[in-house]
Amino acid sequence: MEKLEIIGKKKLSGVISISGSKNATLPILAATILTEKKVKIKNVPIVRDVETMVSLLNTIGSSVKLNKKKKIIEIINNKNLKTLAPYNLVKTMRAGILVLGPLLAKYGSAKVSLPGGCSIGSRPVDIHLSALKKMGANVKVKNGYIIASTKKSLRGCLIKFPKISVGATQNILIASCFAKGKTKLRNCASEPEIQDLIIFLKKLGCKINKIGERSIDVEGVKNLKPTIHSVIFDRIEAGTYIIAAALTNGRLKIKNIDPKIISTEINMLNKMKVQIVKKKNYVIVSRPKKICGINIETRPYPGFPTDLQAQIMVLMTKAEGISTIKENIFENRFMHVSELRRMGANIEIEGNRAKIYGKNQLYGAELMATDLRASVSLVLAGLATEEKTIINRIYHLDRGYEQIEKKLSSCGAYIKRLK
Ligand code: EPZ
Repeated sequence: MEKLEIIGKKKLSGVISISGSKNATLPILAATILTEKKVKIKNVPIVRDVETMVSLLNTIGSSVKLNKKKKIIEIINNKNLKTLAPYNLVKTMRAGILVLGPLLAKYGSAKVSLPGGCSIGSRPVDIHLSALKKMGANVKVKNGYIIASTKKSLRGCLIKFPKISVGATQNILIASCFAKGKTKLRNCASEPEIQDLIIFLKKLGCKINKIGERSIDVEGVKNLKPTIHSVIFDRIEAGTYIIAAALTNGRLKIKNIDPKIISTEINMLNKMKVQIVKKKNYVIVSRPKKICGINIETRPYPGFPTDLQAQIMVLMTKAEGISTIKENIFENRFMHVSELRRMGANIEIEGNRAKIYGKNQLYGAELMATDLRASVSLVLAGLATEEKTIINRIYHLDRGYEQIEKKLSSCGAYIKRLK
């Protein structure tokens, strides 16, 4: 199994170009199920989850070509697709559930493996299912599969999500594009990846009206158009490298981003005294001598993202005083803490709260990655110690970070993949 070897304490300096967003690409790929017209998606990150979604679409009969060099995906669905999303693909990537809404909306039936829990929490899909039921679908769960069907087509209706869910908003938004009549979605997630999905769907010819931050109205359509779309930048990757610069006393230009979209993260890091100069499509990050501790809570966008919680925690181990984190999105998203403690971090956990004692010396250790963001937090911690750190199970990292070793090495880091 591949591992990463890191020897840190090298000031990072240079330019890092941010890739397209994995979490925007996945729902956009799922949405292509709706159309038989040619779709070209640009700025696609070449990461494992995207490859898994491409395999899933090819398995159900779509013709998807991934050009890794050009980072382009081209899709033509010129025949009827199969409506079965098998366990072996959905189990490796929860976003597989996003094919449920489009398959049901287009073909009137779908059988999709239940994604199950994962290391960050139980992650149920009840909100997706009850919304589809409200739209007239017959939904049952049998032998680990969601089996859904409709008599004619899905019906537009009012859906008020009981909790803000990124995936449920995406699944139901895509499905409602082919529902009969008008669907009013309320209490929606408003992550930039959802904005990007809306832009893509509108280019396809879907009639979507976003009213305010958490309301979306959709008028069902029947015909769609050929489309070219370029995926939005990965805001979590951007935040990760901003933190890398601050941790290593470095100076990095992080480009191909829109700083406005990550203003909450930038404001928080500014409070920690990280210096960030914002330009139209890049930022320059440098760190003063002293980093200050802060208190944060993870929240749906525009709040501080849960996907950056593990990374900022590493920075907090180096800050003055005590910092705190309250994780409000997932019930078990402190898996990185035990590994950070093995490196010498002083972190207390009580329920969904973490207390991080700052100005802590971190030491190299052999570590185990547990999920995508936990893995990258260990990479960051490795960059902050001059001893050798070995990270095992880095397949988690490969699910969502494109060419991480290449990007960091080009800025002076010592990071090597051991086969
Ligand atoms: C998306 O997951 C992201 N994944 C996650 O990124 C991200 O952490 C999460 O949103 C929150 O921002 C993708 O975009 C592919 P949710 P999703 O539905 O859609 C509960 C990463 O590291 N819930 O917004 O699965 C759920 O358990 C990943 O890139 C229900 O109770 O998240 C959680 O507590 C990890 N019932 C909360 O809602 C449901 O039916 C928010 O989950 C659905 C969700």
